[in-house]
Amino acid sequence: MQDQSRPIALVILAAGQGSRMQSDLPKVLHEIGGAPLVVHGIEAGLSLEPARLIVVTGHGSDLVEAAVSAHNPAAQTVQQTEQLGTGHAVLQAKEALDGFDGDVLVLYGDTPFVRAETLEAMRAARATHDIVVLGFNAADPGRYGRLIMEGDALLKIVEAKDASPEELDVDFCNSGLLCADAATVMRLLENVGNENASGEYYLTDVPELAKAEGLRATAIACDEAETLGINTRGELAKAEALFQANKRNEAMENGATLTAPDTVFFAFDTYLGRDVMVEPNVVFGSGVTVENGARIRAFSHLEGTHVGARAVVGPYARLRPGAELGNDTKIGNFVEIKAAEIGEGAKVNHLSYIGDASIGEASNIGAGTITCNYDGVFKHRTEIGADVFIGSNTMLVAPVTIGDGAMTGSGSVINSDVPAGDMAIARAKQVNKKGLGARLMAKLRAQKQAKKGQ
Ligand code: UD1
Ligand code: MG
Repeated sequence: MQDQSRPIALVILAAGQGSRMQSDLPKVLHEIGGAPLVVHGIEAGLSLEPARLIVVTGHGSDLVEAAVSAHNPAAQTVQQTEQLGTGHAVLQAKEALDGFDGDVLVLYGDTPFVRAETLEAMRAARATHDIVVLGFNAADPGRYGRLIMEGDALLKIVEAKDASPEELDVDFCNSGLLCADAATVMRLLENVGNENASGEYYLTDVPELAKAEGLRATAIACDEAETLGINTRGELAKAEALFQANKRNEAMENGATLTAPDTVFFAFDTYLGRDVMVEPNVVFGSGVTVENGARIRAFSHLEGTHVGARAVVGPYARLRPGAELGNDTKIGNFVEIKAAEIGEGAKVNHLSYIGDASIGEASNIGAGTITCNYDGVFKHRTEIGADVFIGSNTMLVAPVTIGDGAMTGSGSVINSDVPAGDMAIARAKQVNKKGLGARLMAKLRAQKQAKKGQ
């Protein structure tokens, strides 16, 4: 029984192999919305502003550690070299919790949907109970642990494998999440044995051991969908569908219009502002923010991109990492942009590749323009000033700079800088041969007639 301002340490269990995934990748690294499952678990827990964040790794620990620290450098990882059960897994965090005076919240790395509100409710229940477990009423209790309650007191958790027929009839099940004083959990876990059907050290033995000491355990309920765990590729696909449905609703609740929501795909971190309009069949990879009033037209693919207010993108645009579109920009069909800043009001409307570049305000890039940024070994930059007009089908051979207010003639191959205000034409000069078009056509037609007559 504690006040709710106690510091929280998250312990995220992520050591299991997930053999039913049939994968060389550790289960927690399979992705939903472009982020590994374990990252979703971390993100859920971060809403409690934990003082410590500990991830227990085992199978593929080097890969899991790399993914965890890439996402959250403050996270600590501890290894569970043998997977001897959930209780044993939590015990591995003991050293990392040294000197920590507060609550531990145990989460699973393969349970990505638990809501911040639910974790808050668990924390709130600590005001009256020493151990708080998160339960749910299972449509099909199957192999979940059963929560044996008496009023609001949790007497014990029984694993399905170890349960009596009467206990198996209980449909209030264990999600696996548990919150309690860290030192108490560690002390109780030292006494957990493995004399059970699985021969494992169960975290679920903690409430009963607590009760034997006169401590009070309880369970609060959440929606079953929140505790959805992922064990198979089929469950991963279902979880992805659920994630997408949630993100679509969230985007619409925040003021975006999705004309065909079921055809728009989001990443875990997609942000859409107010009055953003998203047409059908748009894919957001990770790292996309779209400011107020922008329009993403049909069949566009965006990742690692910032779209400024009122910009129009697509249809059929491809925005790759590092695309920075200013306010009121226009990016049209079959345009690819990578690592490039497009200044306010600038337009790249048709069939272009703009990579490793910057384009100043109000410049117009003609159809078919390409920044030739790669020489086969190195990448080079193209700098285009403000109010520039790049003629259609210009090849900008980087490194190259085009000054403010300059122009290039259509079809030019530009490989040296163009000073501000100049016009660069770099193509063969046109020659008109008097009457030759008509004479040549007549000759070819005559040849065709002669062939037919043979
Ligand atoms: C566990 C619970 C069960 C609950 C169910 C909910 C126990 C004993 N049982 O069963 O009551 O209904 O979750 O899904 O806790 N892990 C480790 N190291 C280990 C073992 C597991 O890190 O040694 C991790 C797994 O990677 C996974 C989580 O702990 O993320 C749960 O392990 P799992 O084997 O799936 O437990 P269940 O048998 O499903
Ligand atoms: Mg499980």
